[in-house]
Amino acid sequence: MLERFLIQGGNRLNGRVKISGAKNAALPLLASSILSENGLFLRNVPDVADIRTMLKALELLGVRCFFDKENHTVDIDSTGAKPRKVPYDIIRKMRASVLLMGPLLARFNRAYVYTPGGCAIGARPIDMHIDSFKKLGARYSVKEGYSVLKGQRLKGTLIHFDRKTVTGTENVVMASVLADGETVIKNAATEPEVQDLCNCLKKMGAEIEGIGTDTIRIRGVTTLEKVEYSVIPDRIETGTFVVAALVSGEKVLIEGAISEHLDFFLSKVVEAGGKIEVKRNTIVVQGQDKLLPVNIETAPYPGFPTDLQAQFMVLMLKAKGTSYIKENIFENRFQHVQELKRLGADIKLEGNMAIVNGGNMLSGADVMATDLRASASLVLAGLFAKGETRVHRIYHLDRGYERFEEKLRNLGAFIVREKE
Ligand code: EPZ
Repeated sequence: MLERFLIQGGNRLNGRVKISGAKNAALPLLASSILSENGLFLRNVPDVADIRTMLKALELLGVRCFFDKENHTVDIDSTGAKPRKVPYDIIRKMRASVLLMGPLLARFNRAYVYTPGGCAIGARPIDMHIDSFKKLGARYSVKEGYSVLKGQRLKGTLIHFDRKTVTGTENVVMASVLADGETVIKNAATEPEVQDLCNCLKKMGAEIEGIGTDTIRIRGVTTLEKVEYSVIPDRIETGTFVVAALVSGEKVLIEGAISEHLDFFLSKVVEAGGKIEVKRNTIVVQGQDKLLPVNIETAPYPGFPTDLQAQFMVLMLKAKGTSYIKENIFENRFQHVQELKRLGADIKLEGNMAIVNGGNMLSGADVMATDLRASASLVLAGLFAKGETRVHRIYHLDRGYERFEEKLRNLGAFIVREKE
């Protein structure tokens, strides 16, 4: 059934919040368990809908997963893995299931994954994934909607991406770790989540050099061992709580965060007048009433993360003056704008540029979540809008934020989950 959040604006946030494991690191890590029959033991796995969907996909492929939600661990037994079909119903819920292509192809020399469609934020084709698998020796065809990849043992080669692709890089890394010979990936994505996958594969016995750079070298091996690995904390959840604290906080301690993963974002927050103090893996944020307009444009890591663009826009709604926000990664990632305007926000769109005139009061209203990060930004706006804000269709939010309303309530926010 559909649910919504009811938020009463105006409460001040104080206290501590613990960041969960990164969904976008855990997803490729879970997929990588298929690479060997020895399985994998993961710690710090967030209990969110996308993770549950990936676990369901793995079960369909004969992989047994024991998710201890209390301790956030997943023990994976991939002995019985089979290259069965990853169906439409899985892909419909979560396009990141394309991350199963690389491991299935590497271990079984074939993969049948339903072709992902577009989503709210853009067409999101996977042409670079498919072209790479073909370069590694796989034959590609489309059959009854499935992307079918077949081949002998993959042969290492040079893969030069036209543009940075996070899951494209992850898919090629996973396809290459068991290939025959060396694969060099140029223009590789360097996101912390890509690095986390590579670090875990290395621990399992893969031979990978250049982790964290845009040239990754992989020498194929024949087997990978079962290891224990802890998922990095979620930098996007961290950034979301930094904005929550700035727009409605007094003093908030964000614990279990890796601030280096957010260097550029935090520098922009400081430029906007935010008071940030980093102590080991805690970020201390002081609420700020005098915020300044700051221009940003999204870029691949280590640039400004597209997944924090909507949240930063809400911060700019509190800043007196005009700021320019340019979205360079996805062609349709301003869906939150028309919803924020319902709260009284003054934002104009010109192509991939949003012109934000911040500083005026927002008043609560009914708004609709459209995609994961946009829905988080609507909650953030509700924290300081006058009166009641209802955010509808919050299943979008449940895909990537663990116990979001509970964490906000523990900080003093008025937010409750209601049935539609
Ligand atoms: C990952 O998506 C993340 N998802 C996204 O987070 C994130 O927004 C995105 O990277 C950018 O950082 C996961 O990691 C599961 P891309 P991904 O391939 O890999 C185009 C969230 O909120 N492209 O780096 O799908 C593509 O259309 C999600 O958790 C092609 O044209 O993104 C986009 O415009 C949302 N052809 C750009 O490249 C391809 O073959 C970057 O996409 C692949 C991508």
